[in-house]
Amino acid sequence: MRKSWATSSIDIHLPVDRGVGRRVALEQAVRMAVTSGRLTAGTRLPSTRALADHLDLSRGTVSAAYDQLVAEGYLVASRGAGTSVADLSWSSAQATPPPDTTWGPRYDLRPGRPDVTSFPVATWLRAARRALTGASASVFSYGDPQGRIELRRALADYLGRTRGVHASPAQIVLTSGYVQAIALLCQVLVRSGSSVVAMEDPNLPFHREVVRWAGARVMGLPVDEHGVDIDGLRGPDGGAVAAVVVTAAHQYPMGVTLHPDRRRELIRWARGSSALIIEDDYDGEFRFDRQPVGAIQELAPDCVAYLGSASKTLGPALRLGWMVLPAELVGPVVAAKLHSDYHSEAVGQLALAEMLTTYAYDRHVRSRRLRYRNRRDLLQSRFGPQTQFGAMGFRLQGISAGLHALLTLPAEGEAEREVCARAEASGVAIGRLGEHWHSAGPHPQGLIVGFGTPSDLVYPAALNALAEVLAHR
Ligand SMILES: Cc1ncc(COP(=O)(O)O)c(C=O)c1O
Repeated sequence: MRKSWATSSIDIHLPVDRGVGRRVALEQAVRMAVTSGRLTAGTRLPSTRALADHLDLSRGTVSAAYDQLVAEGYLVASRGAGTSVADLSWSSAQATPPPDTTWGPRYDLRPGRPDVTSFPVATWLRAARRALTGASASVFSYGDPQGRIELRRALADYLGRTRGVHASPAQIVLTSGYVQAIALLCQVLVRSGSSVVAMEDPNLPFHREVVRWAGARVMGLPVDEHGVDIDGLRGPDGGAVAAVVVTAAHQYPMGVTLHPDRRRELIRWARGSSALIIEDDYDGEFRFDRQPVGAIQELAPDCVAYLGSASKTLGPALRLGWMVLPAELVGPVVAAKLHSDYHSEAVGQLALAEMLTTYAYDRHVRSRRLRYRNRRDLLQSRFGPQTQFGAMGFRLQGISAGLHALLTLPAEGEAEREVCARAEASGVAIGRLGEHWHSAGPHPQGLIVGFGTPSDLVYPAALNALAEVLAHR
């Protein structure tokens, strides 16, 4: 029996123009696919027989087109391995980058991202293999909208052990990262008739957008050296607030830790107003100088929704997040999750569960913590109080935890916008405090230095480049 296209092992889309000669049309289609980057170097092409079947051409026509493209250098043919796309990276024929190439700054000191060059590929693959070996086929079918029970069990143990969180698997909902968790919670609040959500000012503008997108109105609460100030909740607008979102362990972006008195005040207010505290524990694993600060949820599991994510510890691409909810919110949030996307991807959930139960996750977090602490130390040695920048009036803050620090600018001289523009011209991308305010100014001027993203090799050069920019301010 002839092998048909449907049973050929390589699937390929080639729009062949029927207006020109058949061989020429096929050659043009392949050239176009290769030079646009749609077919990347090394991609195997179907056999001449399978492609001839699929395009309703003679095998000789396909064979002649392949020969021509090999002669022109677009394809390579090797005995036994068939025909594949050549590497054109040296050639000006490839006008656009391959689709998975991101064009970025030379030195990326923007906050919010970890060093993904150290993603533990071997550990992750081992965990996924172990989790899938012998797993029932139902793993690959639709599952529980709340998330895989294996990961909910493992997280209940881990979060209790490392963050003091009171969690049972029944209270945990697995999500596609923090962003989906906050979106689902806001949808539930809005559906129940409450539509004002208080957020720290400054905070991440994208998170304000997500809350608004879900239909809620955002009220800003100022942040000082003790963390978020909730006095505004007692004012005329406060009565309508259904939830307060806080980054208590390490305020984003100011870097302060919420003072114990403020925590108690916040809990008292939430209980008195039947409101919810949404605790964003985005980098709680990375505390460098002291014992980790526990979660607020530990003190008040009845009124706190605790939200966490693997984005900082492993990588944002996994889109793995979790929430630990007061019991009465579980049903409505699971319903919102079901109507959003049935449930999050399950194989990654099983791999993470395996990493947690074998303590591979603990080992990974510990090794990352050490490396990020070294980076933080280097940052401090370049821009801290004892340096020329300290003497010039720069202040480095929020360095006891996390993957970013705030560098406030001296009152005199260039404003943050100009500094950032000069940094960008030197190939340094950096965060600007001014982008994070909810309220109108005037506000202090500062840079947010993310020290998670550059690889270990590049990081010292990135700090040198930043120092060069600031020295000329
Ligand atoms: C303040 C804050 N919260 C949460 C997150 C995690 O978001 P996600 O889990 O959606 O990647 C981040 C990531 O950068 C963050 O900066």
